[in-house]
Amino acid sequence: MNYSAVILAAGKGTRMRSEIPKVMHKAAGKTLIRHVIDAVLESGVKDIVVVVGHGRASVEQELAGEGFRFAVQEEQRGTGHALLQAEPYLEKSRNFLVLPGDTPLLQTNALRAILNHHKDTAAQATVLSCTLQDPTGYGRIVRSAQRRFEAVVEEKDASPEQREISEINSGIYVFMGASVLAALHELKTNNAQKEYYLPDVLDIINRKGQKVEVLRHPSEEDIYGVNDRVQLAYAEKILRRRKNYALMYSGVTITDPDLTFIDASVDVGRDTVVLPFTFLAGNTKIGENCRLGPGSFINDSIVGNDTSVEYSRVKEAQIGDECTIGPYSYLRPETIIGNQVKIGDFVELKKTVVGEKSKIPHLSYIGDAVIGKYANVGAGTITCNYDGKDKYVTIIEDHAFIGSNTNLIAPITIGKNAVTGAGSSLSHDVPPDSLAVERAQAKVKKKRE
Ligand code: UD1
Ligand code: CA
Repeated sequence: MNYSAVILAAGKGTRMRSEIPKVMHKAAGKTLIRHVIDAVLESGVKDIVVVVGHGRASVEQELAGEGFRFAVQEEQRGTGHALLQAEPYLEKSRNFLVLPGDTPLLQTNALRAILNHHKDTAAQATVLSCTLQDPTGYGRIVRSAQRRFEAVVEEKDASPEQREISEINSGIYVFMGASVLAALHELKTNNAQKEYYLPDVLDIINRKGQKVEVLRHPSEEDIYGVNDRVQLAYAEKILRRRKNYALMYSGVTITDPDLTFIDASVDVGRDTVVLPFTFLAGNTKIGENCRLGPGSFINDSIVGNDTSVEYSRVKEAQIGDECTIGPYSYLRPETIIGNQVKIGDFVELKKTVVGEKSKIPHLSYIGDAVIGKYANVGAGTITCNYDGKDKYVTIIEDHAFIGSNTNLIAPITIGKNAVTGAGSSLSHDVPPDSLAVERAQAKVKKKRE
């Protein structure tokens, strides 16, 4: 069967106490709405309508250019009212998966299960339920003495007895277009929140004698809804754990998965060891047999094989094989490091290319530079790349040796095999195979008593 999906993402998310719409908050590096969309796409449903309202510009922007359609709910008058705004898209003869935008832990198995159950039972409406240890906050599934579905009762409307019910509404449904449309028009707001409750359509459809199915989902985690920031942190923890476990099963050592933070988008090669307090974020690819951390933060970067990065920050950079980075290096955007390079403590590199087997071991700022192979950049070397207005390039050719505490006043080229004396401030090119020293004669006098 061919399904469409409607994702409800217009709510304010009052309980987040935020200027940002709830579905735009991030868990494990990805917005809540994106987590939901990814799960829906992965379950094979490609035709997606998103109901937006509160903060709609940012939600539309997040999902722009991917062929999704948007329905607008100007005023947030409840989940039923939200779905009604998608009426122009709700074809009568089509089946719709309807789900909230705040369930980032959702996985395809839950969606496939409800879609299959709806089809197999030829129901007009199917709701995914779950039995929770602590059902607080969710709508409860009320059943008759014969255990047949009767209604969903929201926490705020529930009697003390109903609050004892542990089977809850996940907020995930499949509806036949014609049935749900008719029922949506019959919704009333005679409830505690004066809202049009979407789950009330189940009761309406049921009363009409049309088939309503309840499918109980075994995993409490999958349907977890984020309504406040404590729940957001919980969702984040689960997502992190899933990623770390997947990596460990694929051959990565993570010494403490509770203290390691890796976005779902990151690739890590086998036999790489990730030590605690390490963050790998964004579009990052790590090779095999690396050692990352402790305490490193790498985002949108590529790291080769057999490289170590210890207590360092790497941002939109590339690092080759068998390199040693850190402790305490700072690699900034557009830095490209070849193989077998050493970048040591308190070294900052910006927009710099470093050739293979070169070393910048200590206390340097190197920006807008191109460094060849086998070069040694002494402790405390600074590229003076900026005159307050423009940036200039420093070139250090193969096998050059830059003495400690050298200022390279760019634009400048240090030729192949050249040596610069420690403490020099150089503003002219140094030809290959030569020595450049700029140093005042020391005056040695007798000390006054
Ligand atoms: C809802 C269900 C509840 C269920 C729970 C599962 C209702 C009335 N209650 O409660 O039975 O157990 O989900 O997580 O549906 N939204 C809109 N427009 C609105 C209101 C909400 O688009 O006017 C969107 C929100 O952005 C959100 C989703 O609908 O993504 C769910 O809304 P929320 O307020 O979180 O519902 P719950 O109180 O969690
Ligand atoms: Ca919710």
